[in-house]
Amino acid sequence: MGHSFSPDHDLVVAALAARRHAHAPYSHFTVGAAVRDDEGRIHAGCNVENAAYPEGVCAEAGALSAMVAAGGRQVVDVVVAGGDGTVPCAPCGGCRQKLREFSLPDTPVHMVDGEGHALLTLTLDELLPNSFGPDNLPRKGTHS
Ligand code: THU
Repeated sequence: MGHSFSPDHDLVVAALAARRHAHAPYSHFTVGAAVRDDEGRIHAGCNVENAAYPEGVCAEAGALSAMVAAGGRQVVDVVVAGGDGTVPCAPCGGCRQKLREFSLPDTPVHMVDGEGHALLTLTLDELLPNSFGPDNLPRKGTHS
């Protein structure tokens, strides 16, 4: 189920700008992603493909790595820009799990077209229901 709220303009601009730097000579499918952290900072990434195909990295993973390297640990908003502008670029399964590590169940993920208009907005929990996360692991000192 989608939501009607529209994505933050600065976050959209960051995702579209990162997308222009995508390295996608094999798929020719460029993607840009931007996350806002709980301090209001924006971190962006693009997909970076590799001649050894499986070594390619998704845009969302790059944005999250930038956030963590900058000291961020909590994602509050996400924009993903990719594709022809008609079909929403949905994060892959692996990136849903990566986003889940740093997001809340109701964190929005906006999939936008080339102009930054939302094609689809879903929450993290809608993208990855019944997910496994940090709380599923025993806390230190609770091992039996
Ligand atoms: N890709 C992303 O970077 N993010 C997505 O949400 C979907 C797919 C990349 C991976 C690969 O470089 C290319 O798009 C085609 O799959």
